[in-house]
Amino acid sequence: MAMVCVSDFEAYAKKYLPKIAWDFFAAGADDCSTRDENILAYKRIRFRPRMLRDVSMMDIRTKLLGTEISFPVGIAPTGFHQLAWPDGEKSTARAAKAMNTCYIASTYSTCTLEEISAAAPGSLRWFQLYIHRNRAVSQQLVQRAEALGFQGLVLTADLPYTGKRRDDVRNGFRLPPHMKLKNLEGAFEVCKMSLLDPSVTWNDIYWLRSLTHLPIIIKGILTKEDAELAVRHGVQGIIVSNHGGRQLDGGPATIDALVEVAEAVQGRVEVYLDGGIRKGSDVLKALALGAKCVFIGRPALWGLAYKGEEGLQDVLKILQDEFRLSMALAG
Ligand code: FNR
Repeated sequence: MAMVCVSDFEAYAKKYLPKIAWDFFAAGADDCSTRDENILAYKRIRFRPRMLRDVSMMDIRTKLLGTEISFPVGIAPTGFHQLAWPDGEKSTARAAKAMNTCYIASTYSTCTLEEISAAAPGSLRWFQLYIHRNRAVSQQLVQRAEALGFQGLVLTADLPYTGKRRDDVRNGFRLPPHMKLKNLEGAFEVCKMSLLDPSVTWNDIYWLRSLTHLPIIIKGILTKEDAELAVRHGVQGIIVSNHGGRQLDGGPATIDALVEVAEAVQGRVEVYLDGGIRKGSDVLKALALGAKCVFIGRPALWGLAYKGEEGLQDVLKILQDEFRLSMALAG
């Protein structure tokens, strides 16, 4: 099977992953209207291409909070990579390092933060945090990540409770017994995600600030009001995200929300986006509308499902090549 575009990896993953894993990765909340809108919204946006502008030399590098990456596509935090590939997040970390981009490791990784760091020493990694009711658990995770050389702390703001994903309910989805939420082992019994703290507010940014010197990036912002609050609470970055449509169904596509967020922020902090990125031209649209970089969630999992580290590198290379080509053709 020739792997030409990201959808080819999606088709492969759908065909070869166990149904319960495929369904978990694919799931959106309720009737998936926001999940699907994330993709449809890109199709409504059109370029105004310019011609004869010498595109023989192009520089697609960018910087995330001062650290250079080779192109503006990173890996969004997603849980349970061992469902896609036996080496799990270690493979993800190696692929991100090989492509010189940023990997945001999830709280719900199936490898420890230590294993992830050791798999790709010296690479750009951020740690994604869900705040648990037991604050000591969250504090330890943050401080462990900082000590291991993670360079940013991503606070996910859109999951006070887990959205209702119908296929997961139907399948009775849970992690197979041989996989563990490795970073929470010992903290409490695995898979009790109801231990997330739904009482988190903006004030908790100050609490996080007191725990760590890492820059704080807030993930899950969709409105100008929250973007303004994020800036006022001193975060260094905002990820415009609706969790891949897995949380509140009926919210906007992220590419649509990006416009008002970027306008409100006015360059005071870095603005990124995730959700629905499937082609290099999607990346270009997001950059044109104000994102400094985008992150991919499901496409990374499809790459892992195809061939682990190598498969994820293939996905990233395709997006890189398509992005460069789109930039050239748009002048
Ligand atoms: C996610 N996402 C997510 N986000 C987060 O902050 N922590 C997490 O552990 C997870 N886990 C997770 C698992 C799976 C299977 C998916 C699909 C998504 C959300 C993720 O970071 C990102 O916002 C979306 O995946 C982006 O949309 P696309 O690229 O999947 O369309």
